[in-house]
Amino acid sequence: MRDALKDRVAVITGASSGIGRAAALAFAREGVRVILGARRTDRLQETVEAIRSAGGTARSLQTDVTRPAEVTRLVREAVTAFGRLDILVNNAGLGYFGRLESMPIDEARHLFEVNVMGTLYGIQAAVPIMRSQQSGHIINVASVVGKRATPGSGVYSATKFAQVGLSESLRLEVADAGIHVSVICPVSTMTEFFEVAAARSPLKFDPTGPTYTAEQVAEVIVRCARRPRTEVILYPPARLMVILNAVSPWLMDRVLATYWKKIRPGL
Ligand SMILES: NC(=O)c1ccc[n+]([C@@H]2O[C@H](COP(=O)([O-])OP(=O)(O)OC[C@H]3O[C@@H](n4cnc5c(N)ncnc54)[C@H](OP(=O)(O)O)[C@@H]3O)[C@@H](O)[C@H]2O)c1
Repeated sequence: MRDALKDRVAVITGASSGIGRAAALAFAREGVRVILGARRTDRLQETVEAIRSAGGTARSLQTDVTRPAEVTRLVREAVTAFGRLDILVNNAGLGYFGRLESMPIDEARHLFEVNVMGTLYGIQAAVPIMRSQQSGHIINVASVVGKRATPGSGVYSATKFAQVGLSESLRLEVADAGIHVSVICPVSTMTEFFEVAAARSPLKFDPTGPTYTAEQVAEVIVRCARRPRTEVILYPPARLMVILNAVSPWLMDRVLATYWKKIRPGL
């Protein structure tokens, strides 16, 4: 089972930091040939060099996921360089912390462009390749707030719900082509995510509740690539929140309101 991923080819978006970078390193350790995309080329190059000096195979391409042609070029690079595409991790994303009533519309649009449209561009570039191979695995990195929204990050949650929706629909559309689709829902993870969001937002949130490292999330992504799963919620007790929300959103509101008053007074 350990060698199941050896010589596979994976494309990872948002690979210049956090979960994407850790996933690139973790896949490379398994013998996967990785192609990294993001906007910051110096960061990508540093990770490519780290992988190569450990004996792995990696390349990178500057990619802004809001530009469909750049995402297509990144995904096709797998075929150009290695003749196939086995795994696409749609991971690039960013957040925003503030009330919905005052969120600048351009900021909301940008979140949808990166988190949702970026994922869709990746899907549209990868599926024809994977269909022709009759195999492949698309892994979308959403969030637990894509299963139940919380106050102060409504648009971010909406983009994550959208990624879950895209994943559910796509899963059924491509099942007959031997393509797996998984959605990963991390909880708080210690990455630059909070800093990047704070720099764009009126509020500053720190990681709260059960908190994971990027490496732990990356391991879950690699495990999911080895043994495809439909949906992974990183902190298993969070599944209870999802179930409670499905049964009684009213009760879940009361639970969240109490918790939120404690951890984020003023919201
Ligand atoms: N950290 C958490 O608590 C947490 C929890 C649940 C889900 N997530 C999700 O996990 C994913 C990774 O986030 P992270 O925590 O690893 O944060 P991060 O360290 O800030 O990484 C975000 C990545 O996305 C890339 N990115 C942002 N805008 C982009 C664009 N327009 N085009 C291409 N790449 C872009 C960034 O690269 P460049 O800036 O170089 O382009 C960076 O590599 C996101 O989808 C996030 O929503 C995070």
